[in-house]
Amino acid sequence: MTKELWCDVDRYFADLLLAPDAALDAAAQACREAGLPDIAVAPNQGKLLHLLARMRGARRILEIGTLGGYSTIWLARALPPGGKLITLEVDPKHAEVARANIAGAGLADVVEVMVGRALDTLPRLSGTFDFFFIDADKTSNADYFRWALNLSRRGSVIVVDNVVRDGNVIDANSTDAGVTGTRRLVDTIAAEPRVSATVLQTVGVKGYDGFVIAQVVGG
Ligand code: SAH
Ligand code: DHB
Ligand code: MG
Repeated sequence: MTKELWCDVDRYFADLLLAPDAALDAAAQACREAGLPDIAVAPNQGKLLHLLARMRGARRILEIGTLGGYSTIWLARALPPGGKLITLEVDPKHAEVARANIAGAGLADVVEVMVGRALDTLPRLSGTFDFFFIDADKTSNADYFRWALNLSRRGSVIVVDNVVRDGNVIDANSTDAGVTGTRRLVDTIAAEPRVSATVLQTVGVKGYDGFVIAQVVGG
């Protein structure tokens, strides 16, 4: 199995199951033109986030790690009328590109981009959220998960990106900050009785990686 095959399979399904989408294509193009890193979720992964948020019936969504707003647009489109998405981004340039992309998708009134280190902006949030997408710096993932739990209610769903990283996650001796951060996250989840969780391993245009998918089942 090669990455080329994973990409062909991604394209096969995306061509059949994902409608052509001018706003998302324009957002991806604007990210490239602005020189943002090419690390947004893949189209089929964006659709997965959208479906999970819709299945949850999410009315309030919190995203940590905006980049150019590609995953933000997928998630915000899952909201019912009157719904709200807040997304946290440390890099002002990323936030600026994201705001333009979000406006281009007609979602300016639905989405709020908060600029700053997430650990500084999270304490400013109030109320609870039904759905969380954690996709910022991997070193703080355990802290982000705890914050999500604090801002959740029973039934809330928490998704975390990039928890497999070519399988490196199983290396207990790794000194890579992403790996140690992810392992701390998984230890945190494993020790948390209020949460039921699994990991979905993924291959495709984003390589070999995976998502934590968790639900708050206790209070
Ligand atoms: N969710 C996006 C991709 C996010 S990439 C998508 O799929 O489209 C990760 C983003 O997290 C980057 O834009 C990076 O600037 C941001 N980030 C990194 N450290 C952060 C921090 N401490 N607080 C908030 N955002 C952070
Ligand atoms: C990186 C970050 C991501 O969120 C991602 O999905 C892929 C790669 C990175 O920092 O390399
Ligand atoms: Mg990611």
